[in-house]
Amino acid sequence: MTNKQTIVSGIQPTGRLHLGNYLGALKNFIKLQNDYQCYFFIADYHSITENYNPKDKPQQILNLAADMLAAGLNPKKCALFVQSDIPAHTELAWIFNCLTPISYLERMTQYKDKAARQKENINVGLFDYPVLQAADILIYHATAVPVGQDQDQHVELTRQVARFFNNRFGQTFTEPKSLHTETPKIMSLADPDKKMSKSLGDNHCLYIDDEPKIIAAKLAKAPTDSGDAKSAGAKNLLTLSKIFSSEKLYNQYLAAAKSGGLRYGDLKKNLAADIAAHFTDYRQAKQTLLKNPDQIRKVLAAGARVASAVAKKTMAEVREKIGISY
Ligand code: TYM
Repeated sequence: MTNKQTIVSGIQPTGRLHLGNYLGALKNFIKLQNDYQCYFFIADYHSITENYNPKDKPQQILNLAADMLAAGLNPKKCALFVQSDIPAHTELAWIFNCLTPISYLERMTQYKDKAARQKENINVGLFDYPVLQAADILIYHATAVPVGQDQDQHVELTRQVARFFNNRFGQTFTEPKSLHTETPKIMSLADPDKKMSKSLGDNHCLYIDDEPKIIAAKLAKAPTDSGDAKSAGAKNLLTLSKIFSSEKLYNQYLAAAKSGGLRYGDLKKNLAADIAAHFTDYRQAKQTLLKNPDQIRKVLAAGARVASAVAKKTMAEVREKIGISY
């Protein structure tokens, strides 16, 4: 047994990872795997609440696993698995459904946004999404959840669900907290008043596997102000430069911005080169991994074995406590 604290987080297999996913979540997973007991998973059940084509899903799952491994997750340091390989997540979600008031879910802003986007498919799964997320987290007794800011409301609901369960059936679940990076909300390139999100469209996102030329072209089009760095676009670019550029260069940009003389053309060109360079090894590693999907499947199966053992133990305790163990 280890006395490390436990963290849990998931990413949906819905396409390519953008800088928001990386800087808000994945980059932190890679850092935290050294200090925590980690469960990281591909949230395929969450992803089917949105419109999708079943033909695309298997490759999206393998691509995301390749992304996570290529970016630096080490399967020896964390359990990396696919959510649907651990049926106990959905089983626990059902039990939590019977404790969660509908009114709590009606308040969820992400549900309201998504429902507004897919009016023809406002399904029960979309509504119940945060309850499954609570089960994902609580089943491993996580104390923290590394996520971007947009997930805070779901983590708050997870704490409430833990409380509902503990109050009714006795102390069982820990109330976890969100764990943020220094960049919990990366903004869109094309419309920097909005959060970077795939649903806005490809021109709003920098994908971490974008080729250098594409990165340069997307950054070149990003709106900025005339120099004083007060606009959302300028702030977003400076945030990215703080992360990807050298400290010296970033400090120069910052000083220039303060005096009103920042040349955004230069910043964008250098930033594009720095971002492309940052992801060079990742891009190559991803290509190599995808040539051998069976190796990826093996990693996911091994991760599922580790997760399953813990999930089964939690479920035995839960069944006993709620009175269905006979
Ligand atoms: P998903 O796939 O939508 O997002 C994956 C992670 O990326 C973060 N993120 C951002 N961070 C900063 N700036 C942005 N613009 C940005 N866009 C996305 C998200 O906050 C997230 O951390 N519901 C989760 C998946 C999930 C989950 C869980 C997470 C399912 N079960 C249990 C934690 C624990 C989601 O939205 O993933």
